[in-house]
Amino acid sequence: MKRFIIVLGIMFIAFGMVFAAENALEIFSWWTGGGEEEGLMALFKLFNQYYPDVKIINAAVAGGAGTNAKAVLKTRMLGGNPPDSFQVHAGMELTDTYVIPGLMEPITDLLKEVGAYDKFPKALIDIVSYKGEVYSVPVNVHRANVVFYNKEIAKKIGMTKEPTTWTEFLMYLDKAQKMGYVGIALGDKNKWTSLHLFESIMLAELGPEKYNKLWKGEASFNDPAIKRALSIMKDILKYVNADHSALTWQDATRMVFEGKAFSNMMGDWAEGYLKTLGWKPGKEFGWFALPGTQNAFMLVSDTFGLPKNAPHRENAIKWLKFLATVEAQDTFNPIKGSIPARVDADKSKYDVYLQWSMKDFSTKAISPSIIHGSAAPEAFATALMDAINKFVTEQDVNKTFKEILWIAEDNDYLID
Ligand code: GAL
Repeated sequence: MKRFIIVLGIMFIAFGMVFAAENALEIFSWWTGGGEEEGLMALFKLFNQYYPDVKIINAAVAGGAGTNAKAVLKTRMLGGNPPDSFQVHAGMELTDTYVIPGLMEPITDLLKEVGAYDKFPKALIDIVSYKGEVYSVPVNVHRANVVFYNKEIAKKIGMTKEPTTWTEFLMYLDKAQKMGYVGIALGDKNKWTSLHLFESIMLAELGPEKYNKLWKGEASFNDPAIKRALSIMKDILKYVNADHSALTWQDATRMVFEGKAFSNMMGDWAEGYLKTLGWKPGKEFGWFALPGTQNAFMLVSDTFGLPKNAPHRENAIKWLKFLATVEAQDTFNPIKGSIPARVDADKSKYDVYLQWSMKDFSTKAISPSIIHGSAAPEAFATALMDAINKFVTEQDVNKTFKEILWIAEDNDYLID
């Protein structure tokens, strides 16, 4: 037995050495389908045009918003088995989980070398930095507070103007339901989507200024606006599909495409998905900011970083430099349904939806997403996600509000 274990150990080490010696590049993400994979594949293809000898290993783990990937990644990182580079959200998900514990290499010089350091919005560079060093390359900016809708159904329910208030929005959801459609499709088989909806309702009710202050400890969670947000969520839940807990985000978006649901509130990766299904923005589907959030842009940014002890460090550096180029960003983002993180990208490559998003990104208040890793540490986001997921079933406003206060207190946020 002992000998068997030694032989096995030697085999592992030998395999590790062969793997490391190979001209490979292991890229970890959760982009496995429904619009996301297409964007990633386009990046791989372009990278291989520049570096044809590098064998890319796609280590993607399925599950929207990194439901499964994040846990796998953390185990690998803590176990000393990092991929060469990995997808990570700008903000606390990067800094709190990986940078502060000392698991990442700074990449400031690398960005400077390729002349990209000053090509990103300062606010974005700030949230991928720690103690003056940059730790990841932002590849995109997604907007989380968007409602996508089926234009044909909109016509049938007499929607002549996109709703800007809850009253108008709920009226259309009700009309759609009365005509036999699902008002707003939800797919919370993976729990994050219910917090995705709730955080934007919270943004609407608090307003971006107060919402942003929560994360700096300058505003309290004990605010009637948060309680109101729960009541509004409850109103909206009257119009979701009965099978929501069996569906993923793609399934829910697809209900809009299939003419089963009037709308879906989602980040604009749903735009990428609808396009891969063959729809054109403005033609078959329309969009609007979730009512009450017209003046805000809930930001989600995907970035890639350089873990310490990356097995193919040289290739990882090539990859990161590549991601920082206008060409890579303008190849990826029009497919992914996101806008480029670089400010000097070629706007003409982007469709009408993305141009709308670009304009709003440069003119509206920017607020960090909780569930997509920017605003708060993972422990807070996960606890809140569980509370909101329970709320979807129980719909007890007072109980969930109390729970939110406990979670905030546990995480050292203000509650008075
Ligand atoms: C987000 C991510 C997006 C998209 C989405 C759904 O967290 O930033 O790029 O992939 O999840 O999976």
